[in-house]
Amino acid sequence: MNFFAWIAKMRGKKPQPEMQEPDTDNEITHIGIDLGTVNTVVYISGKGLVFNEPSTVAFDAESGSIIAAGYRANAMIGKAHDKIRVVRQLVHGAVSDSTAAKAFLKHIITTHYPETALKHRTTLLVCCHANLSKVERKALKDLAKSIGIEDVLVENEIKAGAAGMDIDYYKPGGTLIADIGGGSTDIGVLSLGDLVVNRSTKTAGNCFDREIMNYLKFKRNFEIGPATAEKLKIELATLRSEISSDKFTMIAGRNIKNGLPGTIKVKQTEIRDVLVKSFRTVVEEIYKVLEVCPPEISSEILDEGIYVNGGGSKIDGLKEFLEERLQLPVTLSKDPLNSIALGTKVLLKNRGNYRVNPFN
Ligand SMILES: Nc1ncnc2c1ncn2[C@@H]1O[C@H](COP(=O)(O)OP(=O)(O)OP(=O)(O)O)[C@@H](O)[C@H]1O
Ligand SMILES: [Mg+2]
Repeated sequence: MNFFAWIAKMRGKKPQPEMQEPDTDNEITHIGIDLGTVNTVVYISGKGLVFNEPSTVAFDAESGSIIAAGYRANAMIGKAHDKIRVVRQLVHGAVSDSTAAKAFLKHIITTHYPETALKHRTTLLVCCHANLSKVERKALKDLAKSIGIEDVLVENEIKAGAAGMDIDYYKPGGTLIADIGGGSTDIGVLSLGDLVVNRSTKTAGNCFDREIMNYLKFKRNFEIGPATAEKLKIELATLRSEISSDKFTMIAGRNIKNGLPGTIKVKQTEIRDVLVKSFRTVVEEIYKVLEVCPPEISSEILDEGIYVNGGGSKIDGLKEFLEERLQLPVTLSKDPLNSIALGTKVLLKNRGNYRVNPFN
């Protein structure tokens, strides 16, 4: 029992489970954050995953105070009046609105961890896209420091994802991971504890949603917003060439011909055809990474195949689609939306140092 719990017990009060202070002044709490374009996931040592919600924050426009974060703020997108400012603070994995990002981070961390403990008792690891520039990485670090944490590390999300999927990327060999997120698809090859080559493309979740919106607009004369497009994708997305019975979903939007609100029926085969085009780009990007891979590593990948992580890996038929086109075995992440945050637990053990294998 820690000191604060003991005091609480002596006073006959029930200790607060949510906001326990660390055991001693010297105990360091590890916080790992997957600050994604669409979703943010937070891990805190001793508590596990404490937050997994959209990277969206809503402010009162006049006072600047937060009125909602995560799901509640996301539900306000496209519906708020001018007294509410709704912000998605990242674009393609880079912070685009640092004021909003700072407020969001502080809000979600201090909801689960005492603000007074941040400065001396915390190590924070933020995951970022592999292609983020030095300036963008420094901006992420400064952002975390601005909320009061002094010890901040920035690490590649591909490494964290590998650790979260229990892949020992410290072995001399090669592990290829494609992370199909919301803002970008990041592809990287890991060996001996770090990235050997990587590429990134904006063909990812948000782009798939835009392609669905464009298809409906230009082929069906029907306008929908990004939230409806994402809903359609999650309900109907498949990459299978054979679909036994064509499902459909009714959606609401605006009929472009008469400008009036209306509903239409969208078939699964329509969504499939839109997505197959985008996924051809993902395949090309994986090929480009394989082309620049050192030959010794390529031969390992040939045996081991590739791993796919991120929300996009939940699309039905992806494994078969990639295996057929790449002629390689494909392993899908078991927990694609959480594995990066879970992997921070491992990276925080060795502070991302490629010379210290945290799996030993
Ligand atoms: N079942 C599903 N089918 C299809 N797409 C899905 C499904 N579940 C989630 N997604 C998509 O996954 C994306 C979010 O994935 P993820 O949380 O890995 O991205 P992110 O980490 O926020 O983005 P990034 O890594 O690019 O910054 C969204 O575009 C979402 O629509
Ligand atoms: Mg991500």
